[in-house]
Amino acid sequence: MRSSWWRNAVFYQVYVRSFADSNDDGVGDLPGITSRLDYLKSLGVDGLWLTPFYPSPQKDHGYDVADYYGVNPEYGTLADFDRLIEEAHRLGIKVLIDIVPNHTSSRHPWFEAALSAPDDPHRARYYFVPGRDGAPPNNWQSAFGGPAWTQLDGVPEWYMHLFAPEQPDLNWWNPVVPAEFRKIITYWLDRGADGFRIDVAVSLYKRHDLADRPLIPDRITGAPTTAPGFEILDQPEVHDVYRDWRHIAGAYEPERVLVGEIFDPRRQSRYIKQDELHMAFAMMDRPWEASAWKSRIDVYRRAVARGTSLPSWTQSNHDVVRHVTRLGGDGVGRDRAKASALLLLALPGQYFIYQGEELGLEEAFVPPERREDPLYIRSNGRHQGRDGCRVPMPWRQHEPNAGFSTSPPWLPTPPGWDRNAVDAQGHSSTSMLSLYRRLLKVRRGLERRLPPRMHWAAAPKDCLIYHRGPLSVACNFGHRPLELDLPGRLLLGSAPGVRRSATRLLMPPNSSAWLETRRSAGS
Ligand code: NOJ
Repeated sequence: MRSSWWRNAVFYQVYVRSFADSNDDGVGDLPGITSRLDYLKSLGVDGLWLTPFYPSPQKDHGYDVADYYGVNPEYGTLADFDRLIEEAHRLGIKVLIDIVPNHTSSRHPWFEAALSAPDDPHRARYYFVPGRDGAPPNNWQSAFGGPAWTQLDGVPEWYMHLFAPEQPDLNWWNPVVPAEFRKIITYWLDRGADGFRIDVAVSLYKRHDLADRPLIPDRITGAPTTAPGFEILDQPEVHDVYRDWRHIAGAYEPERVLVGEIFDPRRQSRYIKQDELHMAFAMMDRPWEASAWKSRIDVYRRAVARGTSLPSWTQSNHDVVRHVTRLGGDGVGRDRAKASALLLLALPGQYFIYQGEELGLEEAFVPPERREDPLYIRSNGRHQGRDGCRVPMPWRQHEPNAGFSTSPPWLPTPPGWDRNAVDAQGHSSTSMLSLYRRLLKVRRGLERRLPPRMHWAAAPKDCLIYHRGPLSVACNFGHRPLELDLPGRLLLGSAPGVRRSATRLLMPPNSSAWLETRRSAGS
């Protein structure tokens, strides 16, 4: 049996720019992460996912890669990367890195060469396509707003960018591109990376004909809208790429893993396979409502073929509003976030923590003139952008910039941010941080006794209950306290008010509990 260390692992997403700053320049870096590995170890995580740290003009904060083989000088050196891997491995922590195969930076040598002469062969590595009567070649839109095409002065063709213009899309139909990415992934695996989080994993190949997206009238407003089911991405050839990568990853011992940035459960079922991706993200972004959470959990459970893998539960990342805020903000948002952590962390599967989630951070207000996200800038402020979930980590109370850096951080520290600091929460037994530490510890202790299956039990309105071997989990989504006839020893409660009376489990609103029963494993 091969070791499948990644099954049921808890990963921690490090947003490199905002995690820890070792040289006080206001920007997080790799030595900063190394210096905080003891924190991550004591939190109890099994692995990290590092967001891109490659040389990059930072037009999309690292998702615009100018050199796939190096480290951005702001973040350190290759030697710093090696040290980080070595230290992490010494502590038993795996390290996944981000790979960005859909597009390069416009400052990547390939794109620069492509622009150097009209007949430069590098153009064939991107999509340079003639326009239509002065307009872009088709009606595809960029995810950051506006057309997915730009025409540069003196270049007759338009080039494609599904994201910012500084992120030209690679043409995966050109065999040079897949060959290069084989080299890139092998290079990092040989350097000690334990796997990859694959950016926009389904997008590599675009439909060959580059046809317009058909527009149909919206069912309600009548306004023209793109027809569903017309696929411009998700081409069959992308599966060959992942089969090849899986083969490469599988040749290492222990096996290296591939995590696709895919959220749609239907798509997940086509990519998470024995010979393709190991995992994708089961994003729990539903409103706080028992039936909505139950059906979302079930959809993701069904998306992974039995025996192949398990869902990778997650609630936040660097692209979405932090979940404490989504769940109502403030005290109620934090209570619900504690409850949701218990609910999700007992499910079969992996879990991805987004940095600062263990501190219960909320979406921060970033003054408009300080926002850097291309989503904000390119949408002319129609979209608030993603800076609010990327504000640097608060490490120490009563220190400038909450102990992140003595220089002003790249995004400003919000007033009072240091209340959330690691040192402040470490001293409180009721803090989010203490709860996450206990949760991961208890989870680890139970690990061997937890079967890969769970089943729902009957539950009152606004409540979910499930069993997984010896563990029973209950979550009260409602506004009223609940009393449940649920047997078992109380292992963990998300709030101090979760208690056992002689026969009943008392649950305040927005709370969860873990109970240990004598039910046999597998039942
Ligand atoms: C998904 C990444 O998570 C996001 O931050 C980025 O802007 C886009 N892909 C483009 O690379």
